[in-house]
Order: sequence, then C-alpha cells, then structure tokens
Amino acid sequence: MRVVLVGPPGAGKGTQAQFIASHLSIPKISTGDIFRANVSGGTELGKLAKEYMDRGDLVPDEVTVAMVRDRLGEDDAQQGFLLDGFPRNVPQAQILQKMLAEFGTGLDIVLELIVNDEEVVRRLAGRRTCRSCGKVWHVDFDPPSVAGVCDACGGELFQRDDDREETIRRRLEVYQEQTSPLINFYSDEGILVRVDATGPVDEVTRRAMAALRTPG
Ligand code: AP5
Ligand code: ZN
Repeated sequence: MRVVLVGPPGAGKGTQAQFIASHLSIPKISTGDIFRANVSGGTELGKLAKEYMDRGDLVPDEVTVAMVRDRLGEDDAQQGFLLDGFPRNVPQAQILQKMLAEFGTGLDIVLELIVNDEEVVRRLAGRRTCRSCGKVWHVDFDPPSVAGVCDACGGELFQRDDDREETIRRRLEVYQEQTSPLINFYSDEGILVRVDATGPVDEVTRRAMAALRTPG
C-alpha cells in the first residue's frame, strides 16, 4: 500500500506513522526525520535544511524532492510506503505523482489528520524527544516516569528547536498557505480520507486503520 499522511504540525503524524507503518508492514518515510538526522550528522544537506527548519519555512523543493526520489528508489519501498511530511505543497504532490508513474504505480490513499490549532500548540509545546533513540514523549499526554529521561533507553530528552512559540506560529502559517491546498488536490483525485486525530493515540490509530481498510 502507498499512503501519504497529511496534517498540521503536531497533528500526530510521526506518532501515528510508526503504528500504521508497522500494522501494514511498510517503511515509514519521514522527510522531517531525514532532515533532522542530517542536521545531527552535520552533513551539507543538514546545514542547508537547518536554516529553513529553524525559521519554520519549507526546505526548497529541489532539495527535498531529490532526497525523496533516492529514498523511494530503495528496495524496501518497492512494495509500499507511508510518507510522513511529504508532499507538503502542490508542486511536490505533482512531482510525486510523476515519480510514481515512472515506477508504474500511484498513491492508494491520503490520510488527513485533523486537529485544531489550540491542540497543536499544546502538543508541540509539550513535546520532548529522546537524544539517543528518537522516541517522542509529551510532558502531559505521554510523560516519561522520570522527567527529562527516556523510559525506553535512559537517554536525555530535549525540545526541538522549531517547537519555540514563534516558530510554531510560522509553521502553522506555512501549513495554511502551502500545505492545506493538498486537501483539495487529493480530494479531487478521489483518494483523500479525513480522520479525527483528537483523543487517545490508540483510538486515533484505530480510526486511521479503519479508514485505510475502507478507502473512499
Ligand atoms: P516535520 O518533522 O514533518 O514537522 P511537522 O509537519 O511540523 O510535524 P511534527 O513533527 O512537528 O508533528 P507530528 O504531526 O509528527 O506530531 P507528533 O507525532 O510528533 O518537519 C519539520 C521541518 O522540516 C519543516 O518545518 C520543514 O522545514 C522541513 N520539512 C519536512 N518535510 C518537508 C517537505 N516535504 N518539504 C519541505 N520542507 C520539509 O506529535 C506531537 C506531540 O503530540 C508529541 O509530543 C506526541 O507525543 C503528542 N501526541 C501525538 N498524538 C497525540 C494524541 N492523540 N493525544 C495527545 N498527544 C499526542
Ligand atoms: Zn530513548
């Protein structure tokens, strides 16, 4: 199955992507995670991406598209994938469509995770990530047993640079201006399914899985 997850920053795309990808036995491909791995690895791509990410802006399309093209060409993505954070504007969606057509395939379904802005701010302000294993926590909604320490590996938790208040505001603007037009784009394609992403994580996963089983 070839699936795209769309939703505002903090909607829970990363959280849901890992469960959905594991249920469907397909790789989760997150452009945000790939950029962050490059930032921590100090690569040229990471240095370039960080400038945009810290402002809450999109990394230029040519950089992002080349990275996704390489990743989708890998063996494990040939039978299906779950894209988290890509595409993020209509030009990226059009390029993805072309890219998949070259591989002789197309998307099966686009899941839109719906949450309001107030909830987004609560989720992002309280998000903490493990420096060692990358697991994502929340200070109120999914707290570790000892504050600041990852239960899974004992690693130190940190707050993402782009989860500062002014950057969150900019990311929400960018979502409205550039990413939300994807909703009409995929709705016109007949492959958009909307999922209420409020409530407990496992309940949202159940709704998403139900939507994937009965697309349209
Ligand atoms: P990216 O990493 O994709 O950021 P994002 O879209 O802003 O999404 P987030 O990772 O912030 O949130 P999420 O929806 O995954 O939520 P999460 O599951 O963590 O991109 C970062 C940057 O990279 C972009 O700004 C851009 O610069 C660049 N970039 C990436 N892709 C690009 C592209 N295609 N083109 C150009 N640039 C690109 O959950 C959030 C918190 O809420 C967590 O603490 C979690 O524990 C908690 N939570 C989750 N679900 C629930 C629930 N049901 N109830 C309560 N709490 C919950
Ligand atoms: Zn950890």
